[in-house]
Amino acid sequence: MSSSPNRRLRLLQRRLTPSFRILILVASAAVVSLTAVALVQVQERHLRRTLLEEAESHLLLEARNLATASTDALLSDFPELTLVPMVREIRSSRPELRLVSVVDHTGLIAGHDDPRLIGSTYSPPLIDAPLTRAYLNPSETMGTTGELIIVTTPVNHHTQGRIGRVTVGLARSFIDGKIHQARSALILVAAILAICAILIALVMNAVLMRPLSRLQAGVRRIGQGDLDTKAEVSGPIEFRRLAITVNEMADQLKETREIAAEREEEIIATQREVITTLGDVVESRSHETANHTRRVGAMCYELSLLAGLPEDEAALMRLASPMHDVGKIGIPDSILNKPGKLTDDEYTTMKKHAEIGHSILAGSERPIMKAAAIIAHEHHERWDGKGYPLGIMGEKIHIYGRIVAIVDVFDALFCDRVYRPAMPLNRVLAIISEERGHHFDPHLVDLFLTNLDLFLNIMDKLKDESASPVKGLESPVEEQVEEPELIGA
Ligand SMILES: [Fe+2]
Ligand SMILES: [Fe+2]
Repeated sequence: MSSSPNRRLRLLQRRLTPSFRILILVASAAVVSLTAVALVQVQERHLRRTLLEEAESHLLLEARNLATASTDALLSDFPELTLVPMVREIRSSRPELRLVSVVDHTGLIAGHDDPRLIGSTYSPPLIDAPLTRAYLNPSETMGTTGELIIVTTPVNHHTQGRIGRVTVGLARSFIDGKIHQARSALILVAAILAICAILIALVMNAVLMRPLSRLQAGVRRIGQGDLDTKAEVSGPIEFRRLAITVNEMADQLKETREIAAEREEEIIATQREVITTLGDVVESRSHETANHTRRVGAMCYELSLLAGLPEDEAALMRLASPMHDVGKIGIPDSILNKPGKLTDDEYTTMKKHAEIGHSILAGSERPIMKAAAIIAHEHHERWDGKGYPLGIMGEKIHIYGRIVAIVDVFDALFCDRVYRPAMPLNRVLAIISEERGHHFDPHLVDLFLTNLDLFLNIMDKLKDESASPVKGLESPVEEQVEEPELIGA
């Protein structure tokens, strides 16, 4: 159910792209226009045949009427007196008739609109395409010349038989003119039909595309993560159903996302708690104070941001840095909790906590564990290369290790220990400054000191209940020489 509307939308989107819509419009117009042209041609052929048959019928009728009307005149002594006016009248009333002649039984012209031809021998026009019509009488002929349609019909007398013949010719251009007129009318109708088709296509486009565009916009917003804005339910029923389904999907997605976010938050909180507790256990074995790991985490986060690490990596530092001394679980209590100065051998054993911590954490593929492994391994490296366990220097030390080195020492010096009180702030800062470029990354020291208020604020907020980290500011304790392993281990 979840993939079906998406697929249908994608299909609609693909099919109804702007270029495809234009193509549909052009294709619609072309189809209508071609149909109209074909219609005009079919109609023209039909019209030509109809007009031709109609013209031939009228022509034949005209010839027969003239033949009937000419009978008496041909029997008279001067047939031209009757036939010439009669022919002239026909020519004037039917201008499309180009030839009207009456010939007597001897073949001389007895009736014509040109009186000079009366009495001359009639030469019938050459017929190049004889027409045969079922309605012609046997003695009648019909044919075409280049310009005329000609009908010849006999003039018969009931006692004297054939006494003459009548020839009538119609201009073919008359039919062509009629066809031209009809064609113009048909083309006009076809054009109107094409325009109507395009308008209908445009209206259909608007009816279909506007709701689809709104639906697309809604789906796009949801796809971009905005699950609060609903897709508009409008347009044809199919689109409305699709919009409703899309909105239902968005609601489900939102619910799932919220549940996932809650679970993720819970997992992160659990991780943080487990890591901090682990750090606490380790630190408590080596006389660190209760909130040391929390302060280290919070200060590492801030210094990471100041150093230009992205937010997610700074968050990783907050979680991973409390485990920096996890390797101390492998150091015997006798060394870890020795009140006095460590012997060289003891100090060598103590230094192993960096590698032990790395080996404990390095097996995991989790980003947090990987970061923690780096920190455990390199938080005692020194900028000048005199640190341990690797003895690497400068930027070869991972930025995670360089950040934790400053923060861990700062917190260790500035907080009370069971075996000594906190150092005053000016002394702590003096040590940090002295170690700039020796123990610590000089750039990180600059960032730390420039933004000291940020770190003092963390120290104050997360101070241990039994001691005040900032009291060193108010009542400096007697300065004492810090045992070397405080910074070193
Ligand atoms: Fe350490
Ligand atoms: Fe520490």
